[in-house]
Amino acid sequence: MGMVLILIFFFSLVSSISPSYGFDPLDPYGNITIKWDLLLSNSGTNNLMVSIYNFQQYRHVEPPGWKLNWAWKGKEVIWSMQGAEATEQGNCTEFKESTLPHCCEKEPFIVDLLPGTNYNAQTQNCCKGGVLSSMKQDPSKYVATFQMAVGGSGTNSQFIMPENFTLGVPGYSCGGAVKVEPSRYTTDGGRRWTQALATWNVTCVYSQSLASPTPRCCVSLSAFYNQTIVSCPRCSCGCKGQPGTKCVKYGETPPLLKQNQDPTPVVRCSEHMCPIRVHWHLKESYKQYWRAKMTVTNFHIMKNYSEWNLVVLHPNLQSLTQVFSFNYAPLNRYGYINDTGMFWGLPFYNDILLQEGKDGNLQTEILLRKDPGIFTFREGWGFPRKIQFNGDECVMPPPDEYPSLPNMGHSASATTPFIILFSLFLTFML
Ligand SMILES: *[C@@H]1O[C@H](CO)[C@@H](O)[C@H](O)[C@H]1NC(C)=O
Ligand SMILES: *[C@@H]1O[C@H](CO)[C@@H](O)[C@H](O)[C@H]1NC(C)=O
Ligand SMILES: *[C@@H]1O[C@H](CO)[C@@H](O)[C@H](O)[C@H]1NC(C)=O
Ligand SMILES: *[C@@H]1O[C@H](CO)[C@@H](O)[C@H](O)[C@H]1NC(C)=O
Ligand SMILES: *[C@@H]1O[C@H](CO)[C@@H](O)[C@H](O)[C@H]1NC(C)=O
Ligand SMILES: *[C@@H]1O[C@H](CO)[C@@H](O)[C@H](O)[C@H]1NC(C)=O
Ligand SMILES: *[C@@H]1O[C@H](CO)[C@@H](O)[C@H](O)[C@H]1NC(C)=O
Repeated sequence: MGMVLILIFFFSLVSSISPSYGFDPLDPYGNITIKWDLLLSNSGTNNLMVSIYNFQQYRHVEPPGWKLNWAWKGKEVIWSMQGAEATEQGNCTEFKESTLPHCCEKEPFIVDLLPGTNYNAQTQNCCKGGVLSSMKQDPSKYVATFQMAVGGSGTNSQFIMPENFTLGVPGYSCGGAVKVEPSRYTTDGGRRWTQALATWNVTCVYSQSLASPTPRCCVSLSAFYNQTIVSCPRCSCGCKGQPGTKCVKYGETPPLLKQNQDPTPVVRCSEHMCPIRVHWHLKESYKQYWRAKMTVTNFHIMKNYSEWNLVVLHPNLQSLTQVFSFNYAPLNRYGYINDTGMFWGLPFYNDILLQEGKDGNLQTEILLRKDPGIFTFREGWGFPRKIQFNGDECVMPPPDEYPSLPNMGHSASATTPFIILFSLFLTFML
């Protein structure tokens, strides 16, 4: 048990440390940028365009979506808004005009409009219910935009950028606004350019430990050459009965709760207590190729995961030959090393992982070429180094428990038929 085990151990160490720093080595530059463009500043009213860009490779913003908040520094009000709306109008008693401002709150909360909203209220890139997809998964849906007219800024009606931004999505924290090069817009097919009067960027980054105090996903393993199924480590995402966990036993009906703001997932009771389990099965070995099967199971009894995705780190992904029933894209984070890739569902087929009890599992098989020099089934090499579900790290079993190859001694002939039978069994069960 040499280098491979050490490497696996190293990876699990790195991965167990990394989330707390809010830095994801698999998406080192990932962030959500909120850009404010001042388009027009005219007799006390400032027209602004606000764009939210999800510059992350695989992490997306799921329903109920973003809920942007900031604090005005002065007595600003939002006169009107297109493409989004403030959740509260607030106290506008000071205004005697025939139409009141859209929002007079000092710290407004802004939400996206729902799809299919009245056309007059729309802008380009609006009305997705606050959902933002990742750059890889759907590049057409990673931006949200709204426009607003703001009045009552500083003394000589110069616009003052607000502060204290929050995105309203668990796990993100935002920095201060930074004045950047003004945005440029093209008209006439690139022959003429106009530009914003001023532009500010606010950058928000994700941290798994900020999103949830415990992991939300775990990995189990099996292989055709060994009958042991290595299950998710006990208490991967909490222990049964521990405060902060909620589970429903098999046969019991779940409580009639709505999907509310309570972040504690309600799961089917298990030893691992995770809402998501990913099973990796080394299924078959051919002369030049090998085949693995991945099964994603939802234990959350009140949540459908739409636009779910999996990120897998395995050195043989550089020679991935075929992927069945999932989409795949390599994540070449450092240029030449392509040992990481992202899997996600096919639209209208399996892009929603349904809740537990409603067929909440999905599977794929992948075919990989046995690269001479690096390929081996020894020392757990065939198992993934790291798996993330929706960008959150899954808890792996300890490397010394991985299913090991049988000793290729005298007993091999006796165990082989059993192993074949057993791998058939696993094929149908998992
Ligand atoms: C945010 O992401 C974009 C796109 O990857 C990158 O160009 C930019 O530098 C990032 N911003 C920060 C502050 O990391
Ligand atoms: C922003 O937050 C800081 C710290 O909580 C607070 O001191 C400051 O007053 C806030 N700014 C505004 C404009 O409310
Ligand atoms: C609304 O604001 C005005 C002054 O701006 C204040 O006199 C009044 O008490 C406020 N009303 C409420 C309900 O807060
Ligand atoms: C500001 O954000 C825009 C898009 O959101 C990006 O293109 C630009 O590079 C950012 N500027 C800086 C200095 O980060
Ligand atoms: C999940 O989807 C199924 C099938 O579309 C639906 O019956 C169920 O109510 C959904 N669950 C939630 C929590 O939305
Ligand atoms: C990995 O990179 C190599 C060399 O850059 C390339 O030939 C190969 O097609 C890539 N494999 C995948 C699955 O992207
Ligand atoms: C299967 O793997 C387990 C865990 O590594 C090991 O203890 C066991 O000896 C292996 N079984 C066989 C038949 O090799």
